[in-house]
Amino acid sequence: MSNFYNAFIGRNRDYRAIATELLEILGNRQKILDIGIGTGLLAEQLIQLKPLLQITGIDTSTSLLAQAQTCLGSQVELYCQDVCNLELDQTFDAAYSRGGAWAFIRDSDTFLLASHIQDIDAIQQSFERVAAHLYDGGYLIITTSNANHSKLDKFDGEMSFERTVSKNWVDGEQYLIIDYVCHKHESITEHQRVQMRLLELDYVEGMLSSAGFQLISYQNDQYRIYQKGGDK
Ligand SMILES: C[S@@+](CC[C@H](N)C(=O)[O-])C[C@H]1O[C@@H](n2cnc3c(N)ncnc32)[C@H](O)[C@@H]1O
Repeated sequence: MSNFYNAFIGRNRDYRAIATELLEILGNRQKILDIGIGTGLLAEQLIQLKPLLQITGIDTSTSLLAQAQTCLGSQVELYCQDVCNLELDQTFDAAYSRGGAWAFIRDSDTFLLASHIQDIDAIQQSFERVAAHLYDGGYLIITTSNANHSKLDKFDGEMSFERTVSKNWVDGEQYLIIDYVCHKHESITEHQRVQMRLLELDYVEGMLSSAGFQLISYQNDQYRIYQKGGDK
């Protein structure tokens, strides 16, 4: 399914606009960690707009990382790592997750965290590992994703890519279930199901606070910006 990622996502999201907004938030912060970099679509735009940025990307998917490597070459350092066990010999000015390991999604008049990491302790550990890799005053930016609604895209006469989204409660825990289905001539050629843990905003902010982060701003409801400890 990674082969279809750019074709589907690239036409549904304006990465240039996201990069421009993110750069405004980052200000003069230069050393940046992309958590769940995927195929590198956002990092590519960031570097085009600001070539001096030093971006390191992590992801658990070797196939997506291979595409990122092809797209970004040596402009970005890439590591196959799970953010829960993040271990890089570097410290960053800021980290962001744009629909990576975690994202916020709108839920009526509030937000939920949608996390690829399912276990609460592991989510807590992921926040702590990020904090351990940031300077004091460093930012953790988590974007709001619009990928939580169903969608059908037809590429040409024969191929279509469908995303179906539903919510599900299991033993008192809430999950987002996303089915990606690729059709060729009406037959299914690929199907991938992604399950994400959903957590209430207040609860997540308690977890982030335990990891040393405090919310300093949310911009257009699109970017929630947390800061580690005091000012740098
Ligand atoms: C929807 S993709 C987004 C990719 C990219 N950020 C973008 O904006 O196009 C989510 C990415 O997060 C990665 N991911 C999920 N859980 C992760 C984890 N625990 N640690 C690192 N990456 C993770 C996935 O492998 C996938 O590449």
